[in-house]
Amino acid sequence: MVEFMKREQWNSRIGFILAAVGSAIGLGNIWRFPYMAYENGGGAFFIPYLFAMLSAGIPFMIMEFSLGHKLRGASPKIFSKLGENYGLRLEWLGWFQVFIAAIIAIYYVAVIGWAISFFSFSFDQSWGGDTNAFFFGEYLKIGDHSPTSLGGFQLHIAIPMAIAWSITFMAIFTGVKGGIERASKIMMPLLFFMVLILIGRIVFLPGALEGLNYLFQPDFSKIMDAKVWSAAYGQIFFTLSVGFAIMLAYSSYLPEKSDINNNAFMTVLINCGFSILAGVLIFAILGYMAQEQAKPLTEVVSSGVGLAFVTIPAAINLLPAPYIFGPLFFFALVVAGLSSHISIIEAVTSALIDKLCMPRKKAAIIVCGSGFIISMAFATNGGLLLLDLVDYFINNVALLFSCFAELIILAWLFKIADVREYANRISDFTIGSWMDLCLRFISPAMLAIILVKNLINTVN
Ligand code: PHE
Ligand code: NA
Repeated sequence: MVEFMKREQWNSRIGFILAAVGSAIGLGNIWRFPYMAYENGGGAFFIPYLFAMLSAGIPFMIMEFSLGHKLRGASPKIFSKLGENYGLRLEWLGWFQVFIAAIIAIYYVAVIGWAISFFSFSFDQSWGGDTNAFFFGEYLKIGDHSPTSLGGFQLHIAIPMAIAWSITFMAIFTGVKGGIERASKIMMPLLFFMVLILIGRIVFLPGALEGLNYLFQPDFSKIMDAKVWSAAYGQIFFTLSVGFAIMLAYSSYLPEKSDINNNAFMTVLINCGFSILAGVLIFAILGYMAQEQAKPLTEVVSSGVGLAFVTIPAAINLLPAPYIFGPLFFFALVVAGLSSHISIIEAVTSALIDKLCMPRKKAAIIVCGSGFIISMAFATNGGLLLLDLVDYFINNVALLFSCFAELIILAWLFKIADVREYANRISDFTIGSWMDLCLRFISPAMLAIILVKNLINTVN
């Protein structure tokens, strides 16, 4: 009876890795990474990117997996336990991370909702010829009222968002093993499979190779540009879902005997490998589109919301068998988004379970229920504006600050070598003291530079 609430556990190692990969692979890999690489030196971007992956991504992942595994709690509990030994109050950092996660969850789901809608439109390309007017005008109805007004509730956006919430809710409600792990084991292989099929056909279309040329052609003159390095580090922190409570929660369900170093390498490498696949897919499509429309590629290339909901639909219109490739693309987007959404919601839910000793099912109802209601703000015709604002603040300020604070506390206040030794003791292979160097100097310095740069940009 002492261990009344025994902590849930993953069923298998592969299940954990797929769940962590599911969190990492998200909209960012599909619509952010390809453009980042293209903008920041093409093939040459891989040098700073790989450097950031090795010096920041992998060490950070090992650190979070170790903390979750050792302290067995959601983020607030982990930081509060860490602080206890030193007489410090650190729980706030955990709640700050949970708060960021909750905000992301609320707007991320809006994009998943749009992707569900576009999945349904893609069977007969009912977005028509002018995809720009369709997305912003007919679908989001931005022009209808002043975009700042939160009036104009859009049922056709609310319904797909409700679908997304229900899937997330089912996974969280069912629990770590039966819900999250099972969902990841279906979603991740499916996602890779769909993307490979898309690539397999699209790279053989005329113009596709020119597109790839644009993506991979190295512009080494950019290597010395500080902007390129900060873009690489920024992308690594964003894409790996570290620093905002997610990987801490997921690794708190690891069984006693787990190979932390190996799991961290796998998660990071699979995620970054997928990013490259997504880059190939997106630039092959863009190259084909440029060729068909006899435009230079620079005129069709885009990222983010515009890429996914304006450019890609226009490209799908031009594809052979659009009724196959359209649904495949948007289904892949939905799957990538949902698996990340599940992980964000789990970060919030597990914090409530820990803090209030609440049963999982009750916590799931509270978190998903209130999340659903708040997210309805994005189903209005002010949704996009609100989304841009929140997204900007989260990615450029809050997330970086959270990673920075976590690093300073762990690598400077505490002894990061202890964390490394902890991971090494239970892993197949050991990590050398280079990891301490990365976490104490390289990563915080890069984070501080990017953060200051972004703050200056925000003020201007
Ligand atoms: N890593 C995700 C991506 O690249 C981003 C993300 C994950 C955002 C989880 C929020 C929560 O898209
Ligand atoms: Na995902």
